[in-house]
Amino acid sequence: MEGQMTHFSEPTVQNYAGWDEFYAKDVDEKIDFFSKENRLFDIIFSQQFDRNFLDYICRLSNSIRLLAKTKSGSRKLRRLLAHKRAMLYFVQPSTRTFLSFLNACHILGLKVSDIRDTSTSSEIKGESQEDSIRTFASYVDLIIIRHLEAGFSEKTAWVLNQSERPVPVINGGSGPDQHPTQALLDIYTLERSFAHIGGLDGKKIAMVGDLKRGRTVRSLSYLMKNYKDVTLYLVSPEIFKIKEDIKTFLNKHEIQFIETDDFRQTLPLVDAIYMTRIQKEYAEDATAEADDYPEFFFKQEHLTEIQPHCVIMHPLPRRYEIEVEVDKDPRAVYWRQERNGMWMRTALIAYIFGVEKKIFKVLTA
Ligand code: CP
Repeated sequence: MEGQMTHFSEPTVQNYAGWDEFYAKDVDEKIDFFSKENRLFDIIFSQQFDRNFLDYICRLSNSIRLLAKTKSGSRKLRRLLAHKRAMLYFVQPSTRTFLSFLNACHILGLKVSDIRDTSTSSEIKGESQEDSIRTFASYVDLIIIRHLEAGFSEKTAWVLNQSERPVPVINGGSGPDQHPTQALLDIYTLERSFAHIGGLDGKKIAMVGDLKRGRTVRSLSYLMKNYKDVTLYLVSPEIFKIKEDIKTFLNKHEIQFIETDDFRQTLPLVDAIYMTRIQKEYAEDATAEADDYPEFFFKQEHLTEIQPHCVIMHPLPRRYEIEVEVDKDPRAVYWRQERNGMWMRTALIAYIFGVEKKIFKVLTA
């Protein structure tokens, strides 16, 4: 096309002194850097959440859900952050994290802008990703990131926290590494599902599928240290077994876990089954890698084998690992789980901007 830019540049690579040393540290050593005045400021790792925070954010999600049911409640929620703006920088594909954050912003009245494709931003001219993010920070009060690289959200928060305009950063999924807000909504779903039987403490949870590259399983595993007597059944084909770092974490925190490739035997033993898909986007040769492991699929016939209170979860998207007939069973909670994500992410944004007390006050008035 006439006038269209044809000479694009390679991305500019900038050297940030101190970043490599910071990135190499243990997460426990880094957590304080992402907090301010004894509150979480950036949301980067699951390990930032303790039990008090988890219980608090679940209670806040319930309050927002309740308020949003009425016209006057929705109006009050919308006024809370009508003076704020958020940026969704989602350059790795996403449906529900993007939409649930977008709608969470709408619920609280934030104005939102987004970039989902770097070919439409000045990155195509070679601008570095760090300079792009600094630019977003010039215009908005919150940046939410989905990125293919494991440390990208962390680096963004690290750079901005040393700048003259530090705005909070939320990690909406960082490569095969972490997805902390997914872990929050998973906890919220588990706690709601087990509210009538004592909550998540003491429960047995099967995590099934690609445990090696599934970031949702990694982030959820970290949160188990906050609950008493939880047992994890890690169910996967040999090649997709969970990585050693997670096993080291589970051992360190004395969280019981059992590794197995026997999906069928595990079904009657557990209170929740967390299905995941094979993460082919991280394969070195995706076309050569099979995504068909039917012995790890949840089929309609399995519904008679699980306990009456057992819930079937999935972070979604799914491929073939749960038959669609299973959707009709009330124990299949994955559609509820994704909607819970909107309430949980609304609660998280309300917390970040410190308006949660106003929400509790409206409900008790
Ligand atoms: N669960 C999840 O992160 O889904 P999306 O990739 O669609 O956001």
